[in-house]
Amino acid sequence: METDDIDRVGDNGDVFVHRLKELTDEEKQRLEAQNSRLIPEAKAAKLEKDAKRHWDIFYKRNETKFFKDRHWTTREFQELINFDVDDKITFLELGCGVGNMVFPLVEEGFTNFYFYACDFSPRAVEFVKSNKLYDESKMKAFCADLTSDDLFENIQEESVDIASLIFVLSAIHPDSWGQVAKVAFRALRPGGVLLFRDYGRYDMAQLRFKPGHKIADNFYMRQDGTRSYYFTEEELQKLFSEAGFEILMNTYVQRRTVNFKEGIDVPRIFVQGKYRKPAKG
Ligand SMILES: C[S@@+](CC[C@H](N)C(=O)[O-])C[C@H]1O[C@@H](n2cnc3c(N)ncnc32)[C@H](O)[C@@H]1O
Repeated sequence: METDDIDRVGDNGDVFVHRLKELTDEEKQRLEAQNSRLIPEAKAAKLEKDAKRHWDIFYKRNETKFFKDRHWTTREFQELINFDVDDKITFLELGCGVGNMVFPLVEEGFTNFYFYACDFSPRAVEFVKSNKLYDESKMKAFCADLTSDDLFENIQEESVDIASLIFVLSAIHPDSWGQVAKVAFRALRPGGVLLFRDYGRYDMAQLRFKPGHKIADNFYMRQDGTRSYYFTEEELQKLFSEAGFEILMNTYVQRRTVNFKEGIDVPRIFVQGKYRKPAKG
């Protein structure tokens, strides 16, 4: 990697770059091999139909143990802390899972925030509601499918200051991304910001899929029936600008996931963005 491509190095070791990872010959072969056995169309259609069920079963199996709390969010998303303590902030987590983003914010004492958290998995929402930090005077968790208008049964249009979409869009079929971006846009007040993080193109998890898992270009089925897409910066730039957002940040993030005890040291690639709904006037 050339230093010109490095935008910034975060204090947790995240490296922000604007260049697609270059594949080695071996990695190119692995990607090519994935095409030898694609998921048949009928099965892909069934995965789409059963998306909610697969995620609900995921939470039945893993309960709250799978995703780690996302303590990096305030460091990375300064918008979260650039408010006067007197400002009342409405925060909406889209696709909250069991609350790994929201609860660290509650713990860090964001007392002027009101939190909305939604997911289409009823079990995930129940886990949020049964968390010991769940306080109905400060938070509301509810079910909503982001590919529909469900959200607006609980959220007023243009009422949200900050929304987040963290490792959610990758789980959604590319044909529905436009709808999800529009839903986020409608929920935000003018000037409100959408915070985004997800899997980046050629992340090691993408390269590891064996034949029999690929649904379409850069879109895969995991063993448990949940799906995952691996984004480029350009795709996100296009998607969110077409939905009406101004792009404040849109970049690859490279980081190493290290676990000395388990002997794990893997390079990961994510994409991170901050997209603003234009202020009125
Ligand atoms: C990888 S998890 C991430 C959860 C959480 N944002 C986090 O960072 O820990 C993806 C989440 O997206 C949810 N999801 C997927 N498709 C959705 C949809 N169409 N509407 C609402 N939630 C969805 C899943 O149920 C799951 O909880």
